[in-house]
Amino acid sequence: MGDTYLDLVSGGLGKSAAKKLGLPQPVRLRRTDPDSVDRPLVPGPVLVLDDGASQASADAVAEALLGWDLDVRRDPAELAKGRRWGAVVLVLTDAGSPAALGEPALTLGGVLRRMAPGARIVTVSRRADDATEPAVVAARLGVDGFLRSLAKELRAGATANGIVLAGDVPATAPSALGALRFFLSARSAFVDGQLLQVVSAEGEVPADWTRPLTGMVAVVTGAARGIGASVVRVLARDGARVVGVDVPAAGDSLSRVMNEVRGSALQLDITADDAAERILAHVRERYGRLDVVVHNAGILRDKLLANMTEDRWHDLLAVNILAPLRMNETFAEELGEGGRIISLASTSGIAGNRGQTNYATAKAGIIGMTRALAPVVAANGATANAVAPGFIETDMTARIPAVPRQVARRANSLQQGGQPVDVAEAIAFLASPQAGGINGQTLRVCGQNMVGQ
Ligand code: NAI
Repeated sequence: MGDTYLDLVSGGLGKSAAKKLGLPQPVRLRRTDPDSVDRPLVPGPVLVLDDGASQASADAVAEALLGWDLDVRRDPAELAKGRRWGAVVLVLTDAGSPAALGEPALTLGGVLRRMAPGARIVTVSRRADDATEPAVVAARLGVDGFLRSLAKELRAGATANGIVLAGDVPATAPSALGALRFFLSARSAFVDGQLLQVVSAEGEVPADWTRPLTGMVAVVTGAARGIGASVVRVLARDGARVVGVDVPAAGDSLSRVMNEVRGSALQLDITADDAAERILAHVRERYGRLDVVVHNAGILRDKLLANMTEDRWHDLLAVNILAPLRMNETFAEELGEGGRIISLASTSGIAGNRGQTNYATAKAGIIGMTRALAPVVAANGATANAVAPGFIETDMTARIPAVPRQVARRANSLQQGGQPVDVAEAIAFLASPQAGGINGQTLRVCGQNMVGQ
């Protein structure tokens, strides 16, 4: 789905005209090149800063970055003339008071004008709820406020995201490193202003970062088009064997997508009572195992509540929340060590959206389902997480009338809609072994949508 305005202002006369008129100036985002995944990981040297008390953690993080062959510096003066920073990582895990945040924050401020296009800023801090000392809690929540505001100031496709460690999870735990690598890379192009919790030291650093899903079998519902089709392609690129599910009416395009990745297609309406059993039977027969379930199938039935019909309410709830809930009764038992359930929520389910009482009920429900499922599946070594997309350019959003569509796609820090691949990359990350310490979380892929938290 195209964005004509973005095409117009991303170069030449259009770019200077937009600047003069004070219009939004979205740029093309740094996305993963399918032929050279993760190379280069960041567009320049990486500066690692800390608040003094967190120096040991920062050293360990710098060491890990060196292990990824990055050009790592601890001193902002070390950047060669004419070069630009590819990323800045702020390690603030042991900050004891908001007073300690000043130095690293202002040092970062001093290098912002020398950030490369598509650069990354990542904070690493600790969860406020795990502390009791007022100054420590203030420092920890202070990092959240700092990060969210900073993300709104960045330009040229640069993003800022935070990793929040629970309890005493080390800054180099597998999922802390996994999240760090995801945020630094082009895979997180449309994730901005987000704080992702690492709740445990579970998870494993993969043998090959470019194909972390090797040997795994994934099921994706709603795989015939849009975000689902992209999830199929990205999971396959990362090494998984994939089964795509969609309604019989979408059978032709489902076959096309699944043939592309040499996966397998299953025509099935997920609202059927025995949907989970039929999926399991299909997966067992073809591949003999199931590791990842992506609940992506979804529909829109927008209407103001005053005009809402019974059909519109019930059909939407049946597909978007009741089917995943029912299927999980089976999948939660089936998934073992390394298993993953990843469900599609929406920013509408977080902030609310006019005309979407039914949709937001279902999508907020997905966030609740995920939270409740997390401890249940953790008992078997599996995780349950959700991804909440903002405005993504798909058939679904192409049907929104022109003016509200323009407004919706500009109303975020990156001033553009995301692509289906952006959501797919976040899902592939949560499916990976390095995300084993992330459980019960909802990761927004929304370019830091202005609505909601
Ligand atoms: P889409 O409409 O392009 O694709 C949805 C797919 O699900 C279609 O292939 C459809 O046939 C399939 N499907 C619908 N009902 C089904 C059923 N009962 N059984 C099996 N398959 C069924 O939608 P899009 O935009 O790709 O969205 C995918 C998911 O992402 C949905 O859950 C949606 O709510 C969510 N989402 C999308 C956003 C966007 O901006 N496009 C924003 C936030 C969330």
